Amino acid sequence: MLTDPAAIIERVSERLSALRSVCCMTGAGVSAESGVPTFRGQGGLWQGRRAEDVATPQAFQRDPEGVWEFYNYRREKLLDCKPNAGHTAIADLEAVFDDWTLITQNVDGLHRQAGSKNIVELHGNIWTTRCTACCQEFDHFGDKLSRRPTCDDCGGLLRPGVVWFGEMLPPDALTAAQDAVGRCQAILVVGTSSVVEPAASMAGWARAHGALVVEINLERTPLSEEADECLFGKAGEILPKLVSALRARQSDPPR
Ligand code: OAD
Repeated sequence: MLTDPAAIIERVSERLSALRSVCCMTGAGVSAESGVPTFRGQGGLWQGRRAEDVATPQAFQRDPEGVWEFYNYRREKLLDCKPNAGHTAIADLEAVFDDWTLITQNVDGLHRQAGSKNIVELHGNIWTTRCTACCQEFDHFGDKLSRRPTCDDCGGLLRPGVVWFGEMLPPDALTAAQDAVGRCQAILVVGTSSVVEPAASMAGWARAHGALVVEINLERTPLSEEADECLFGKAGEILPKLVSALRARQSDPPR
């Protein structure tokens, strides 16, 4: 069994190059190299903070200003963050495969900024808001919002356009993700701790119908055991190498 990372990248590229339908599932780790904090582990957003206090509908009902403070803090930090080499490589992969879907748990919008087009945002987008009264959705990219933002149309309280714990995922996003996972021949799982459902189960669904599962992460996760291939290291270093290896195979097909 090969353990040299360069050799594993070669082998993964060889296996992927024969496929046409590929999915990618990303988590906070893919944005870590852009300076966006992850959730778990050292320095993570949930360290010293309880998700139930800031990321549930109950928390918002109890203390909307406290919840907005948390999301406004994250929005402000994000203004300084740019897509990194991992985001760019993922955007590049869209041109490599005939059928490519990027499913992300990230709400930071960096994949789109990097040029990815076919994206399913499973947990919403932090730059959007939704009126709690009339349900209209608004795009507030880059805007500084107050601690109690209200709807321009009806005056209702706005909430962040993200999915909180205990909420359903947006039905369209869930259906698109399920469809893509259901037909893919391989899934790349990048920078996620693979503990939050349903995202955590998607690689397992793909594997159940025979898809190749490739994990890219700094460290082992619950998925590592069932993944066919694991590449341990920074997404921003591994993914560009994978793209180069795939492009080399495209320009030099086997005779
Ligand atoms: P986590 O913070 O749980 O996990 C981040 C993962 O990224 C960890 O497994 C790290 O080892 C890995 N990682 C960190 N830096 C990396 C790098 N440079 N390259 C590759 N991997 C790296 O974040 P998520 O799995 O995204 O949900 O968390 C899932 C969901 O839980 C989030 O969407 C959020 C959170 O609570 C909601 O808020 C609803």
